[in-house]
Amino acid sequence: MLMTNQQEFKSRIKRVLITEAELQERIKQAGSMLSEEYQGKPLLLVSILKGAFVFLADLCREITIPCEIDFMATKSYYGGTTNCGTVNIVYELEHDISQYHVLIVEDIIDTGITLKDVVKKLKARNPLSLKVITLLDKTDARKVEFEADYTLFEIPNEYVIGYGLDSGEYYRNLPYIAVFDEKR
Ligand code: IMP
Ligand code: MG
Repeated sequence: MLMTNQQEFKSRIKRVLITEAELQERIKQAGSMLSEEYQGKPLLLVSILKGAFVFLADLCREITIPCEIDFMATKSYYGGTTNCGTVNIVYELEHDISQYHVLIVEDIIDTGITLKDVVKKLKARNPLSLKVITLLDKTDARKVEFEADYTLFEIPNEYVIGYGLDSGEYYRNLPYIAVFDEKR
C-alpha cells in the first residue's frame, strides 16, 4: 500500500532501539577490525539486497584497505513449520568469487534460513574464504542453526525498521533502528 501521510508514517515508529550515534560507533570499530584482518588479501564485500544497502554503504567507508563490492538478491521459499528452507538467487553476483576472500554483509539474521542457504551456495563456488558480518541478530528467532562470524548488535525478537530495514518497503530511510508498531 502506498503511504504519503507523514503522521501515519511517524505513528508506526514505536521506539528507537539503536541510535544513529550507536550505529556509527560500532560500524567504525568493525571497519578498523576488518581492515586489519583482510590486509593484503583480495576482499569482496557481498551484500544481499535490499536491506543491507545502508549498512554496506557505511561499513565500506570505514574500511581503509582496497576492497570490491558486489550484490545479490534472494527470494525465500519456505512454508509453515519447516526448518529446511531454501532460497533462490534472483539476482546474481558479477564476480567469480574463487579469486576472493568473501565477506557477506547482512542487515539482520532472523530465522537464519536465508544466510544458511546463501553461505552453502557460495561455499560451493570455492571462495578463498567466506565469512558473515551482520548488523543485527535476533538470536531468539532462529529456526535453523546459524551463527555469523561478526555481530554488531543482538536485539530482542521484535520487528524492527530503519537503516535499510523495511516494513512494506517503507522506513528504509530512517537513520536509526526502531521497533515497528505492528498493532492496528
Ligand atoms: P531469515 O532468513 O529469517 O534470517 O531472514 C532474513 C531476512 O528477513 C532479513 O535479511 C530481512 O530482510 C528480513 N527480516 C527479518 N527480520 C526483520 C525485521 O525485524 N525487520 C525487517 N526485516 C526483517
Ligand atoms: Mg536481508
